[in-house]
Amino acid sequence: MEESDSLNNVLISNPLPDDNANQTLNNKENSNDCEPEPEESEDELERKHFQRIVNAFRSYKLHSLKRLYNSTKYISSLSPHQQDLLKGYRTHLDQVRVAIEHNYEIIKVIIKDVAHLFQNADHSEDIKVISSEVNMIDMEKVQSIFKQLYREWSVEGKDERDASFKPILDEIALRYPEDKVDKPNIQILVPGAGLGRLPYEIARRGYSCQGNEFSLFMLFASNFVLNKCQGVDIFKIYPWVHQYYNNLKSYDQVQMVRFPDVNPCDIPEKVDFSMAAGSYIEIYNNLGTN
Ligand SMILES: C[S@@+](CC[C@H](N)C(=O)[O-])C[C@H]1O[C@@H](n2cnc3c(N)ncnc32)[C@H](O)[C@@H]1O
Repeated sequence: MEESDSLNNVLISNPLPDDNANQTLNNKENSNDCEPEPEESEDELERKHFQRIVNAFRSYKLHSLKRLYNSTKYISSLSPHQQDLLKGYRTHLDQVRVAIEHNYEIIKVIIKDVAHLFQNADHSEDIKVISSEVNMIDMEKVQSIFKQLYREWSVEGKDERDASFKPILDEIALRYPEDKVDKPNIQILVPGAGLGRLPYEIARRGYSCQGNEFSLFMLFASNFVLNKCQGVDIFKIYPWVHQYYNNLKSYDQVQMVRFPDVNPCDIPEKVDFSMAAGSYIEIYNNLGTN
């Protein structure tokens, strides 16, 4: 892969359909057709899967605004007196709309260069296939990317990160102390790496590290953070804007956070840092037998 515009040497090989792809793409059990359909090649499945996920990202704004529109429509159906009582809520819904529109701007940059995300696959044709069909599960995964960005790459997510990443980082420091090992020669694998913060933290401490992830939702977003973000707090997002219930205050829904809280390029030079795409079980199956 030409990585001329990549800041870290991050990515990426062996994309495998995930995210219920097989469920959706191979769902022949419900078919009434008695003729056996020709088997789709793995390549074809992968391409369709890629198209599906890109289109889920593209549908974010329309889908999220539709939910908002339903609330606005409901308020409009109330009596003038009731509507007057809900004036503040209307203003809040306006803020929700602005937040969704802003999140969509981030989505556009996340999916901008995904056609060339993988070293061993060109998806230029796939991104030209536009479809507004999207299933709820995929849409929830797109929306959850904003919460994951908050968790992994914002100042506000620090407590959550510390609770899960710190014990791992402490253990690594204990097992491979600087005075006993040549840190770049220690190779650490992080399966299920999400948006790459844990592998980044390990690499930043001087160890070589590969993150592994099989979800294209995560891989698109981690590619954006790790390869395209240069600097601190350059983007803002509204992670909770899709959460209409269980908010203590209306403001909680439209709270903004910035990311990334650290510069993702900030990795020591000698360190080998990469992300590998695909299922952990398949990619590393033969490790240890060689
Ligand atoms: C609970 S999330 C954790 C993400 C991140 N490490 C964090 O702590 O925020 C688990 C991640 O593992 C990924 N995952 C699950 N099974 C996997 C597999 N077999 N191979 C690669 N990634 C996998 C999921 O897509 C998901 O992003």
